Amino acid sequence: MTILDAVTTDTELAIAVDDRYVAHNYSPLPVVAASADGVWITDVEGRRYLDCLSAYSAVNFGHRNPEITAVAHAQLDKLTLVSRAFHSDRLGQFCAALAHLCGKDMVLPMNSGAEAVESGIKVARKWGTDVKGVPAGQSNIVVAHNNFHGRTTTIISFSDDETARRGFGPYTPGFHAAPFGDADALASAIDANTVAVLLEPIQGEAGIIVPPADFLPRVRALCTEHNVLMIADEIQSGLARTGRTLACDHFGVVPDIYLLGKALGGGVVPLSAVVADRDVLGVLHPGEHGSTFGGNPLAAAIGTTVVAMLARGEFQSRSAELGEHLHARLRALIGSGVVAVRGMGLWAGVDIDPALGTGKQISMKLAQRGVLVKDTHGSTLRFAPPLVITAEEIDWAIDQFADVLADLG
Ligand SMILES: Cc1ncc(COP(=O)(O)O)c(C=O)c1O
Repeated sequence: MTILDAVTTDTELAIAVDDRYVAHNYSPLPVVAASADGVWITDVEGRRYLDCLSAYSAVNFGHRNPEITAVAHAQLDKLTLVSRAFHSDRLGQFCAALAHLCGKDMVLPMNSGAEAVESGIKVARKWGTDVKGVPAGQSNIVVAHNNFHGRTTTIISFSDDETARRGFGPYTPGFHAAPFGDADALASAIDANTVAVLLEPIQGEAGIIVPPADFLPRVRALCTEHNVLMIADEIQSGLARTGRTLACDHFGVVPDIYLLGKALGGGVVPLSAVVADRDVLGVLHPGEHGSTFGGNPLAAAIGTTVVAMLARGEFQSRSAELGEHLHARLRALIGSGVVAVRGMGLWAGVDIDPALGTGKQISMKLAQRGVLVKDTHGSTLRFAPPLVITAEEIDWAIDQFADVLADLG
């Protein structure tokens, strides 16, 4: 008897094979996606689900957005990878368009979000040594408590999530943490060897935590005052998710470095970037940093299209307008199982009365009703549908959510 003899459905089969052969570093809901279009995912049984996670905001433009897949198909038939050993006719265009969108001079293309964060850290350290004059090996970077910037050894070294850290030491030194939203505490954490402050403008994995309105402007002023680079990790918050191109835009703040990823690859390829002015990114010279796939022609072609779509502004407007609707509908559930609602645009963190169940249990119930969400911590759910969702689809999803809460209440 094999593990496969015990299964009776395609869903069970796929999950059994995953369990046997895929490393158990995730705990997915028992939904086996087979295809997707726009905001809808269809599983191997033919059941349809409204996607309210968007692959953690990597699918901001909807699954298989036709504008993006057309460019991907065309590029697949022309040129996909040369490495940075040679130029391609795609990379420069992409970097020019993205730099322009962000109001910066230059772009360092990478692949995953964590790689962009690692790259940003390296750039800041190099800038600290070469430009600020911090003695080599003495620099530090100030980060926020409850941050989430990815999963590499250096990044988890400054995480305070014990599950993400335990057993993975020794840890990379050179990071100081201050409470998110507390500019006075952050000021105290800066010293003469601080080269950067690295923050998510809105903390995503922590539960969509929006800081007080004066926090980011004060961080900006502190960074300028102390000759410290302000690095905004907009990998989840950026690219129209909050109703503006970048979450920093809501606060009137321009950091020295933007870190972008997720939606930059149009939900098709991993594509991330460090975006900054020449006086910062110019500290990198040949041989000091790189990636075989970083800036490959396929990703660059897709990224150029994503930037062109963002330059039109329609996704930002949709997110802002439909976000109002989503938040109004969610806020109406406060007192009926919902304790608090936070966020901006089509991005909402929803705290559920813990008496009703864990976030994971409620996500399971929602999946049974055809709505896919993901818990972040404890009893917090995140609603982040693709930005192509309609008001009617939002209403339907929130009706399902209200019914789940009523059933449990
Ligand atoms: C703010 C932020 N930074 C970095 C990352 C890491 O991105 P990736 O999973 O592509 O490495 C994430 C992923 O969720 C994120 O939310």
